[in-house]
Amino acid sequence: MNDKLIIFDTTLRDGEQSPGASMTRDEKLRIARQLERLRVDVIEAGFAAASNGDFEAVRAIADHVKESTVCSLARANDRDISRAAEALKGAARSRIHTFIATSPLHMEKKLRMTPDQVFEQARLAVRFARNLSPDVEFSPEDGYRSEVDFLCRVLEAVIAEGATTINIPDTVGYAVPELFGKFIRTLRERIPNSDKAVWSVHCHNDLGMAVANSLAGVKIGGARQVECTINGLGERAGNCSLEEVVMAVKTRRDYYGLDVGIDTTQIVPASRMVSQTTGFVVQPNKAVVGANAFAHASGIHQDGVLKARDTYEIMRAEDVGWSANKIVLGKLSGRNAFKQRLQDLGIELESEADVNAAFARFKDLADRKSEIFDEDIIALMTDESVTHENEYYRLLSLAQHSETGERPHARVALMIGETEHVAEADGNGPVDASLKAIESRIRSGAEMLLYSVNAITSGSTESQGEVTIRLQLGGRVVNGVGADPDIVVASAKAYLSALNKLRSRAERVAAQG
Ligand code: KIV
Ligand code: ZN
Repeated sequence: MNDKLIIFDTTLRDGEQSPGASMTRDEKLRIARQLERLRVDVIEAGFAAASNGDFEAVRAIADHVKESTVCSLARANDRDISRAAEALKGAARSRIHTFIATSPLHMEKKLRMTPDQVFEQARLAVRFARNLSPDVEFSPEDGYRSEVDFLCRVLEAVIAEGATTINIPDTVGYAVPELFGKFIRTLRERIPNSDKAVWSVHCHNDLGMAVANSLAGVKIGGARQVECTINGLGERAGNCSLEEVVMAVKTRRDYYGLDVGIDTTQIVPASRMVSQTTGFVVQPNKAVVGANAFAHASGIHQDGVLKARDTYEIMRAEDVGWSANKIVLGKLSGRNAFKQRLQDLGIELESEADVNAAFARFKDLADRKSEIFDEDIIALMTDESVTHENEYYRLLSLAQHSETGERPHARVALMIGETEHVAEADGNGPVDASLKAIESRIRSGAEMLLYSVNAITSGSTESQGEVTIRLQLGGRVVNGVGADPDIVVASAKAYLSALNKLRSRAERVAAQG
């Protein structure tokens, strides 16, 4: 059996389905480039038929990414599959990933189709997709809760139609490792033509077992592709986390006996980029990419690590990219050095005017912060006021006064469309006063679900503050992110970023429709 484990990243598709994690075309392209540097085998770039925005994002990624296979999701119908093929036209290597639900519950309640109808639709969809692409993946949605006999019938038929990868999703995160592993093994043993396809697993994390289930699918079931996302991003409790599954297979090669093609030194930069872009902060104790993952606080551990690292470390921090956290630019750095660094980070600006605007912002930041790290540059570039995306609301200036015993007061100047406005308000603290001043002018009526502040680089107070604000309005949830050495300014930027996202309402259809 093949000893390579294919890493299929779905951060830009399943990860993006997480409420508030939606990304612009340029943000997705930037992340796709990082995934390519990470050397993931397959990038699921989106769901081309969901909206024009999704189509354009898949197309842009297909046109730019050359090292990884680029994939688009498509429901099992001709229109979705044609849209996927169209968006993927420019790719060096492409894959169409088509799916239909096969569990009794989903077929009856959601699709309102009989099993025979689902069987036929799955078969025809794969046949149609194979006419457009030699690389076709099929997923029986809610596969783990499907009846084995029916699933075997469907999967045998789609393999006969030419499906090259069969992916078994645990859509609702119901599986437990041993049973999931055996489930995959049963399918492979019972389906006569199972050896004609690569077997893949796609696990959700509702019971915190997505990584364990995926690894059991590999070890017990013989799967040779794992679908995963950076930081485990995804709906509800998320998907299987790429960094955990990759480092488990690498660190325990003695047990799994498999190789992965990932450049692990790109893991932390990828994690930072995804969290800064989406506003989904990584918990400090998260395996591999959490800020504490390699921090030894207790005296006994520190002593041991100083004497011999492997007393308490099973992986080296630099092997997963932690050493990348170094000073890269400063106040005296010129435009060329800045432009080169952007390129190294995979950030492309459309015009020289955009580079000039970004450089001016960089200089402004370097005046206030002596050491500039890669994370600072990424934060600068995800700041919408630099990239000029969706920039209907824009912060011009902010002044606030707070003193012990007095109620804080803020005065904010902002652009709303083409017009400059000034607003003032009091609040419980300077951040509260500033956001109340903005809200008094914009009157969004949005409900704030989350406010969080993080240090972008080191834990020191010299770091930029990165603020994430999650707003909800009319059933829509968005995350805004803002970064600045002044956390009150970062908060105002994050608030305006979230309001801009609420304003640019996308016309997406539900992926599971
Ligand atoms: O979780 C799921 O079932 C999916 C499929 C579309 C693969 O994401
Ligand atoms: Zn999924």
